[in-house]
Amino acid sequence: MAPVGGTDGDNSLSERAQRHLWMHFTRLGGYDAKHEVPVMVRGEGAYVFDQHGKRYLDGLSGLFTSQLGHGRMELAEAAAKQAGQLAYFPLWTYAHPRAIELAERLAGMTPGDLNRVFFTSGGSEAVESAWKFARQYFKLIGQPSRTKVISRDISYHGTTMGALSITGVPPLKTPFEPLVAGSIKVPNTNFYRAPVHGDDLEAFGLWAADEIERAMEREGPETVAAVFLEPMQNAGGCIAPPPGYFQRVRQICDRHGVLLVSDEVICAFGRLGEWFGSKRYDYQPDLITVAKGLTSGYAPLGAMIVSDRLAEPFLHGDSNFTHGFTFAGHPVSCAVAMANLDVFEKEDINGHVRRTEGAFRAGLQSLEDLPMVGDVRGDGFFYAIELVKDKVTRESFTDEEGEFLLRGYMSGALYEAGLICRADDRGDPVVQLSPPLICDQPEIDFMVETLRNVLSEAWRRI
Ligand SMILES: Cc1ncc(COP(=O)(O)O)c(C=O)c1O
Repeated sequence: MAPVGGTDGDNSLSERAQRHLWMHFTRLGGYDAKHEVPVMVRGEGAYVFDQHGKRYLDGLSGLFTSQLGHGRMELAEAAAKQAGQLAYFPLWTYAHPRAIELAERLAGMTPGDLNRVFFTSGGSEAVESAWKFARQYFKLIGQPSRTKVISRDISYHGTTMGALSITGVPPLKTPFEPLVAGSIKVPNTNFYRAPVHGDDLEAFGLWAADEIERAMEREGPETVAAVFLEPMQNAGGCIAPPPGYFQRVRQICDRHGVLLVSDEVICAFGRLGEWFGSKRYDYQPDLITVAKGLTSGYAPLGAMIVSDRLAEPFLHGDSNFTHGFTFAGHPVSCAVAMANLDVFEKEDINGHVRRTEGAFRAGLQSLEDLPMVGDVRGDGFFYAIELVKDKVTRESFTDEEGEFLLRGYMSGALYEAGLICRADDRGDPVVQLSPPLICDQPEIDFMVETLRNVLSEAWRRI
């Protein structure tokens, strides 16, 4: 087949990538003359095309990012126009119109009183900023001992040293230890693996919320600055909050004067059919962190959003949040974000997700007859399938079996079949789907059919 959008009939892009490009979170030794680097050269709607012109359904939206899908000229044109007008100016001391407009627009969309936007270049920077903000905030209001943070087991909050400390995935952390001190872990809300109250979802959720309070009491509440939670936890496989969980966490944070940070780097901008995941699950955070879908990936951008109430100590005299990034709130990225939000509104993308998520869920649940499918869970356009060796006992695969299953077979087979999704074992093995928010029944059918074929074959091979 003739290459589409690229010129790589002879694999030279792959060879050059192996020679010079350091891919992230990648076993670089896994590529050789026989195992080429997948090189994506073009995107169109929910699909991307590799260097040989082969088409794939982008079932993970790149990295939970390409909400509107690929090839949206409105966004490309907004970027070009802004680059021509004012390509770059920092937000250190100065402002520029696109950052002002976007901050104002976000302030009008956020839940409750969150109305002040501190831009970053991405998600880790947003999380890092939120922890630093919390520390400086408490120093300014006379509670300097509040420095610690609480987050959940197997959660992923980014890779910079602060964000990595908040992350709860040990293999990602150990190579870089010692990390930032004072990051405490509590259980997540994976009901399928509930250690207690396995027959009562609500009781389990309240137990998990109370574990946060128990951790505060162990540490001394006056030493805790913030709790970092995703609305729906990604790592571990789309772990939803049980009913009442966030409401109880809110009460606990209020009781102990601790800030509740909703890390919505994945869950904002339509992933769960709402602007914000906290809206979907009906809770009021003190801070929200966002990135990814804010621009649908057409340019890098993140943000930390707080209320005037929290910004107050920074609004007077010579006080100053002594923190910033050169590229944060880049004019081109802000212009792209504005165009992205315009399309969301014009095409009612959030409404589309809400109208279509039932069909997505039903399609994935139709796989529950397969021997390996233990649990199908998620909301919106954000789902995971947990894979088990024994559905009755819920026994998981051994590390070796997981390695064979996910890396040895399934990742390659899914890719071969034209579906990009994530086969992940940061917790128990899961397959994750997070497609562009423009997907409809044909894409859902393709994902379900491909998964049925690959999971069936994987079971025969294990
Ligand atoms: C919840 C959450 N927080 C933070 C991050 C880090 O974002 P970034 O990769 O843009 O630094 C991620 C990335 O996937 C994330 O899922």
